Amino acid sequence: QATDDLSILTVRLASPRGFCAGVERAIRTVEDTLSQYGRPVFVRHEIVHNVHVVSRLAAMGAVFVESLDEVPSDRPVVFSAHGAPISAHQKADSRHLVKIDATCPLVLKVHNQTRRHIAAGRHVILIGHAGHPEVIGTMGQAPDGGSITLIETEDEASKVSLPDAPLAYVTQTTLSVDETRGIIDVLKSRFPDIAGPAKEDICYATSNRQAAVKATAPGTDLFVVIGSETSSNSVRLVETALAAGSAKAVLTDGADSFDWSLCDAARSIGVSAGASAPEELVEAFLTTLAKKRPIKIESVETAKENIVFKPALRLAS
Ligand code: F3S
Repeated sequence: QATDDLSILTVRLASPRGFCAGVERAIRTVEDTLSQYGRPVFVRHEIVHNVHVVSRLAAMGAVFVESLDEVPSDRPVVFSAHGAPISAHQKADSRHLVKIDATCPLVLKVHNQTRRHIAAGRHVILIGHAGHPEVIGTMGQAPDGGSITLIETEDEASKVSLPDAPLAYVTQTTLSVDETRGIIDVLKSRFPDIAGPAKEDICYATSNRQAAVKATAPGTDLFVVIGSETSSNSVRLVETALAAGSAKAVLTDGADSFDWSLCDAARSIGVSAGASAPEELVEAFLTTLAKKRPIKIESVETAKENIVFKPALRLAS
């Protein structure tokens, strides 16, 4: 009996995990656009950063493109949840494309703050990761691109030289809460008058998922985050699990591509999912795991979420 108990794998399941309100709204926007306009519907950039979501919508008739030049003039285009620069909106408008904006309302809030700071004559510091589409969209809120400086680390915050103007900062919504706090502290100590948001721009979903992983990870032999490599908030969850004391942490797109040998020697594993990963992937992961080893699931819940955003598209009745 004692030997049997040793073979049981404890699975600590972090909650909240998976889809956030912005992702649910973005996916629904593509589905609604398909039902209103028929196929194909063009989507500027991956609607959300998850390979399963993108391939399901592609099978329904969504065509994902990186440039608006690829959108025929008679087809609608959906802008992804990550937000877009002003220039992309202008381009779609100048081509008279039917444009449906699935930008997350919490990203739009950062765009609005950025434009307000620029209009008030402030130079804006954006804390974020270079190349991420959300960062490209927020940088693109400055009319000439010249009033925003991107910084990624505390080191950059301590060295960056800035124009002699009033300053403000905004952040990407999917950053590490702890790292961002450190960067903001450096900025505030160098520039005491810097303006910033009353409440940080890191969104509720990102903060809640990181807090749940922090509570779930300590002492686990392995932490599995279900999500795609391109998903910023999922990658942050892997880092959070390691920092919180999991011996190893990995990102996986799901059961099909997971290296199951990682679980062989584990006595306990933590599981979470990024904000763009469907819950079915978590269920499939647990079902496959349970076929390999007896498992005991412990739920670790640190918050309840009930945020729902209004649909982007009002369907014609
Ligand atoms: Fe929006 Fe945050 Fe999700 S910014 S898309 S609610 S991860």
